[in-house]
Amino acid sequence: MTRRGQFITLEGTEGVGKSTNLAVIAETIGRRGFEVVRTREPGGTPLAEKLRELLLAKHREPIAPTTEVLLMFAARAQHLAEVIRPALARGAWVVCDRFTDATFAYQGGGRGFDTNVIEQLAKIVHGDFDPDLTIYLDIPVDVGLARIAPNERDRFESEHREFFERVRQTYLERASRLPRIRRIDGSGDIAAVQGRVRSAVEAYMVSVVG
Ligand code: TMP
Repeated sequence: MTRRGQFITLEGTEGVGKSTNLAVIAETIGRRGFEVVRTREPGGTPLAEKLRELLLAKHREPIAPTTEVLLMFAARAQHLAEVIRPALARGAWVVCDRFTDATFAYQGGGRGFDTNVIEQLAKIVHGDFDPDLTIYLDIPVDVGLARIAPNERDRFESEHREFFERVRQTYLERASRLPRIRRIDGSGDIAAVQGRVRSAVEAYMVSVVG
């Protein structure tokens, strides 16, 4: 049986420092004695990681917007079947770097892909199954982009500034509308950001497990 409350996702635009904060979330839960599965999207299984490689690499052939959305959801379907659902079913907590909010933000907001179609695909792939808590790390686009070396940028990171403004606005709009999404200020001192993330997860755990 899936216990409610144990699926946590982390979102944010480029350069906000998700990896270290994902570790903070996993540690905060693990310290209470729970099994934690740490994973990411696109990816998280051998097949889904291959789809990730295809999605992040720069190709001579442009990837059509519909192809991009379908590959994201294909990777997600595999990840749900192989990792996320089995982990939750055995009582583990799942801490995932990005999930469907990223598809709304990047493909919907960034690329302008029809949000209604994303909604339909989300319904097909995971029905009403949504994260229980989403931490959205927010920083101004320029601050994040300045942290990524231009010659190390993948296909998404190579997008123009306006693309990331639209991604950020979509995250902010969702965070203001959906109570499960907690916006956390990701700018400034790394330790201070980690402290804010830790406090948010601790408070959430008290509300769920006491
Ligand atoms: P990462 O930088 O968090 O590892 O994620 C890889 C990239 O994939 C990132 O630039 C955001 C992008 N992405 C989407 O465009 N749509 C999605 O649904 C997901 C999960 C990621």
